[in-house]
Amino acid sequence: MFALKRFIHNLVIVIGKSLSVLVPMKVPITFVGADSTAQLCQAIGQTGTKKLLLVTDAVLVKLGIVERVTGALGAAGVEWCVYDGVEPDPTFAQVQEGVQRLRSEGCDAVLAVGGGSSMDASKLIAAIATNDKPLAKLEGLFKLRKPTVPLYALPTTAGTGSEATMVAVVSDPAAMAKKFFIDPKLFPSMTALDASLMTGLPPAMTAATGMDALTHAIESYLSVSATEETEKLSAAAVKMVFNNLPTAYATGDDMKARSAMALASFYAGVAFTRASVGYVHAIAHQLGAYYKTPHGLANAIVLPRVLEFSKGPAVDRLAQLADVIGIEGANPTEKADRFIEAVKALGAEVGIPVRLDSLKRADITPIAKRALSEAHANYPVPRYMGLDDCEKLLGSMLSA
Ligand SMILES: [Fe+2]
Repeated sequence: MFALKRFIHNLVIVIGKSLSVLVPMKVPITFVGADSTAQLCQAIGQTGTKKLLLVTDAVLVKLGIVERVTGALGAAGVEWCVYDGVEPDPTFAQVQEGVQRLRSEGCDAVLAVGGGSSMDASKLIAAIATNDKPLAKLEGLFKLRKPTVPLYALPTTAGTGSEATMVAVVSDPAAMAKKFFIDPKLFPSMTALDASLMTGLPPAMTAATGMDALTHAIESYLSVSATEETEKLSAAAVKMVFNNLPTAYATGDDMKARSAMALASFYAGVAFTRASVGYVHAIAHQLGAYYKTPHGLANAIVLPRVLEFSKGPAVDRLAQLADVIGIEGANPTEKADRFIEAVKALGAEVGIPVRLDSLKRADITPIAKRALSEAHANYPVPRYMGLDDCEKLLGSMLSA
């Protein structure tokens, strides 16, 4: 039975890989650097936008980040209004509220200002604006008939990479599940990587989002769907995270480290859009749905465990990543082991716990089943995981 399931998974991945070359991949026009927010706003001003809906959260309003952006929009001659109702793990209701705001204000474009939650909510607000359908009907792959209204993204965290992807994830609290929306029409058309918007991010969020970027980079590098192009982007992102996350965590206003992390997150986002992610994300999504564990934190706790599990067939790939970050070893196995140790050490350095306090023993089997069902339908992982292995992996995360 196990062999049959593994065979079906491999078949799904081969078919998916063949079909994926037919999906148009888009990289947004990207402004980089201290002046990039103003440049993005100027560029939006030249598109003929009548009124822009700025989608964000109340914390960024309070911190004055939104005011900086609206100032730049005003200077660029763009009329705007703000929807600041997005919360972590946005829900269908918040997306719907945003759509109502867009319609009542007569907006014809959307700018996301925030982390993954605001960017994902923005994608769906922009999608419903033209594809007049309930959100539930747009769930899944390639459900959008019409292009979204023009969509722009201004990330204020370095991790999700959502500014570079065609994915939006929204929570359905009633079903304790995350819902996925994947369509090339969800790529933002322009973005700005402005590290000056990220210097106020608290250390714990810097750590969690940065480990999310690292997970995208590693999972896309290990993916059997990786291409020469995605490998280069993933490897560059791995190196930048190792070299810069500890500084961004300890010294939040270090612009050099923040800029490198913003770029790493973007590179990893472009890479996993083509090469996909793996079991770390499949498991972390369930932890988010069950316990509201922040996505990056869940990834960071799960990541070394999945790397240990994947090591057999992925040993050479892990050894290559050891080379990327300058770790030496006598042979590929030793290098792979040292790379996994380096991932653990990086997590420890930025305050990531080894275990997940909220995880309950009774939830392990349903979480493992859901995670495997997500992974085996979607992710081109290097080693197939059975239920026993997934349960054991989750068991090792229980608090003593
Ligand atoms: Fe992620």
